[in-house]
Amino acid sequence: MKRIDLGTLDDWAVGEGRRVSAGEDEVLVVRVGDRLVAVGAFCSHEDLPLEGGSLVGEDLWECPHHGGRVVLSTGAPGGMPVVAPVATFPVREVEGRLVLEVE
Ligand code: FES
Repeated sequence: MKRIDLGTLDDWAVGEGRRVSAGEDEVLVVRVGDRLVAVGAFCSHEDLPLEGGSLVGEDLWECPHHGGRVVLSTGAPGGMPVVAPVATFPVREVEGRLVLEVE
């Protein structure tokens, strides 16, 4: 398992999304309220980067390319033209640091 240090919550603005490399995996990390959530970095619609999109409400990420949406908590499709899920990854707090875990 790969563990990537994401810093502390103060290092992230609410609604900010950043693409993070974890070895061969690319992950989009988003601050939602007082936590970080992580999903696969590429949209399932046309395999384009989700980075550069925007947080909608408290659990949707809008893709910057065609406006499709992904449910951040589950990776499920949240709005057309996205119809397939993306992977999700855990972010845990370890000794005051937020750590992304990728198998
Ligand atoms: S690539 Fe994301 S909606 Fe088309």
